[in-house]
Amino acid sequence: MPKECFYLTTPIYYVNAAPHIGHAYTTICADVISRYYKLTGRETFFLTGTDEHGAKIAQSAQKYGKTPQEFCDLISQKYKEAWKKLNINYDYFIRTTEERHKKALIKFIESLNASGKIYKGKYQGLYCLGCEKFIIQGELHSGLCPDHKTKPELIEEENYFFKLSDYQKTLINLIENNILEIQPEIRKNEVLGKLKSGLEDISISRANLSWGIPLPFDLSQTIYVWVDALTNYISAIGYEDDPEKFNKLWPADLHLIGKDILWFHCVIWPALLLAGGLPLPKKIFVHGFFTLSGEKMSKTLGNVMDPIDLTDQLGEDVLRYFLLREATFGLDFNFSQEAVKRRLNNDLANDLGNLLSRTLTMIKKYFDGSLEAYLNFQEEILKNLALETIKNYQEFMENLKFKEALEEIWKLIARANKYIEEKAPWKMYKEKEILKIQEVLYNLAESLKITALLIFPFMPKSAKNIWEQLGFEEKIEDLKITELKWGKTGKIKINPKGILFPKI
Ligand code: MSP
Repeated sequence: MPKECFYLTTPIYYVNAAPHIGHAYTTICADVISRYYKLTGRETFFLTGTDEHGAKIAQSAQKYGKTPQEFCDLISQKYKEAWKKLNINYDYFIRTTEERHKKALIKFIESLNASGKIYKGKYQGLYCLGCEKFIIQGELHSGLCPDHKTKPELIEEENYFFKLSDYQKTLINLIENNILEIQPEIRKNEVLGKLKSGLEDISISRANLSWGIPLPFDLSQTIYVWVDALTNYISAIGYEDDPEKFNKLWPADLHLIGKDILWFHCVIWPALLLAGGLPLPKKIFVHGFFTLSGEKMSKTLGNVMDPIDLTDQLGEDVLRYFLLREATFGLDFNFSQEAVKRRLNNDLANDLGNLLSRTLTMIKKYFDGSLEAYLNFQEEILKNLALETIKNYQEFMENLKFKEALEEIWKLIARANKYIEEKAPWKMYKEKEILKIQEVLYNLAESLKITALLIFPFMPKSAKNIWEQLGFEEKIEDLKITELKWGKTGKIKINPKGILFPKI
């Protein structure tokens, strides 16, 4: 039986850096999914937040002359501001420095200890601070971490280990049989390949690191930041303090992550959950990376793009549209100003913007801003295409194929623009065929209504704008996709508000 509430998460972001466009990408994708689910009438819970412990963050705080907590408060707030600016409608924002998270983590780690899967040992290894993980010789490029291009530190200490190796066979079996579903296939195969080549136990605590949550059974150690971070997915929904909510939401339906944190989510997290006696998330979707001239974007590499600046330049909807339309979800993608300009000028300003403005102008010119509908006004070509669009769109969205879903909507927009040319209402006006013009405009209004509702998860502000300019009665936020039928618009009175997408 499907769970009553769809639970989806983004990773929680490290506060050692301000949000960049890569973080914004993960979060926007999750927001689109969450808004789409809500549009289909399904109850949805969307979690995001910040990851605030570990050596890397303590070091950044020191650099800025702040205590770690002050530093975390500051940067965590920056994430919240960025998400507000991008119109991200999350249901809860978890911070790992919250008291409830700490309590949940302690409860979880105690359950792991009780399972007998934790033991004390000696560790020696190369630690990359950028990744907050131990890294093996074979993974280095000329002695440097391939992602951060920095030299890892040699660490030797006594700490606690988790018997990850016990889970090799179980995990292979769960992943191969899609009980733990990993998408896209290439990432599933990557995990399986690595899993089959062997699985070692992992250290789950660190000595000599004060900015972390103390290990309850040895207070001289703090819990490894990744174990701390992964636990956010259960602490945020009441693992320790709200059993009713926890039972309603867990297991997560979808963890959305980038490919760099695949191993943590597809191997370490499921094994920890198995040891803690909790059910596994149903699906992990792994998206690709935004690159700038082929290089990964990161603070360490100094080529970061700020989503706030981009939003100031373009508006949040243009940015949201661009990110989801350009990238094939799951694959890497290169960011270029040229491509943004092309998408804005062609798809948004020319195709969608013009369709709206031409329709509004004609309703104003020929009918003084009010338009009435009659049942026999239904134009079969547009009607059939619109119904087909709604169906295909849903199919694509259910499979997280955002680009394809947007392409479907744009086919309808293109057809509606062509319909204006074919019908040429200005010629009908000369012939005084007023009823025919009314019919054409009514069909255009219907097409725009469907378009607005379908783009709502991607561009909530613009969808609402289209809706209000055309003067549809219901509130767009209250409408469900299942209620979307062709030919339901009655009388409309338009409220033109100017250009939807100014060109650059
Ligand atoms: N704190 C960990 C996650 C813990 S989750 C239990 C972390 N944080 S992060 O801030 O470094 O990255 C968070 C997310 O942003 C990851 O999904 C990562 O893949 C994504 N991205 C970071 N840079 C990116 C790009 N350049 N492009 C696309 N996504 C990128 O990892």
